[in-house]
Amino acid sequence: MDKLKNKVAIVTGGTSGMGRGIAELFAAEGACVVISGRDEARGNEVVDGIVARGGAAAFVAGDIAEVETNQRLVDTAVQRFGGVQILVPNAGILGIGGVLEAPLEVWKRTIDVNLNAVYYLIKLAAPAMLKGGGGSIVVNGSIAAYKGFPNHPAYCASKGALIPLVRQLALDLAPTIRVNILCPGQVDTPLLWDSAKAFPDPEKAVQAVADRMPLKRLGTPEDIAKAALFLASDDASWITGAALTIDGGIMAGGG
Ligand SMILES: NC(=O)c1ccc[n+]([C@@H]2O[C@H](COP(=O)([O-])OP(=O)(O)OC[C@H]3O[C@@H](n4cnc5c(N)ncnc54)[C@H](O)[C@@H]3O)[C@@H](O)[C@H]2O)c1
Repeated sequence: MDKLKNKVAIVTGGTSGMGRGIAELFAAEGACVVISGRDEARGNEVVDGIVARGGAAAFVAGDIAEVETNQRLVDTAVQRFGGVQILVPNAGILGIGGVLEAPLEVWKRTIDVNLNAVYYLIKLAAPAMLKGGGGSIVVNGSIAAYKGFPNHPAYCASKGALIPLVRQLALDLAPTIRVNILCPGQVDTPLLWDSAKAFPDPEKAVQAVADRMPLKRLGTPEDIAKAALFLASDDASWITGAALTIDGGIMAGGG
């Protein structure tokens, strides 16, 4: 408890899956959280839950690929809670569609949401973070940075580009702001089940993935939230520019 006391955190895509898990754990650890998403009702539900448990939270609705949405997130953190110390650019989409079939719009949209929006948020929030004495940025990447997934060219490219971006920003923002990235494997969230829809039997396809993992289960939003908490907190005060694979061992050779 209280690992993030007196901190203000922005978590994009905080209405669902990992983002929600991260926002709820950060709030339980004392942070005031500002979450973003596109669904007002789900956003309010997450905020109400956090507040009912004694925490503090605010929701900003909007498309994260728009610069303006990122500016509103930063403004909300500063105006409602007095500043911002932690960023978790987490929102992402799969952008499913192979090179031969998918329209170019899928490529552009996926790069906008998964890569450009991450840069927008960091660029817009960094001055406020520096003003407040610094902090920690934890980007949510993917093992798709390291291996190809059929029919996901834009997803793999966007997640792949985040790792050198994080390394570079770790230099530019040091020593005041630490910048790291999580690279999750398959985690039990709505996004994973969306990708499984491509298979005739989604349940079976997802189970087969879990079976190939050395640790024999999918990740949970809580698994990822705990890793995000570590990197966001002072426990990781000597870690910057790092990519943490968190995948039940699948990149170790399990599948
Ligand atoms: N689930 C997995 O297996 C897995 C594995 C590795 C990495 N990831 C990554 O983790 C992150 C979170 O994914 P998740 O699995 O929790 O998915 P999810 O679909 O449950 O949540 C995604 C969140 O992003 C938000 N979002 C998406 N596009 C947006 C946009 N244009 N504007 C604003 N918000 C937007 C959604 O509203 C939602 O809150 C993503 O970046 C995803 O690529 C997921």
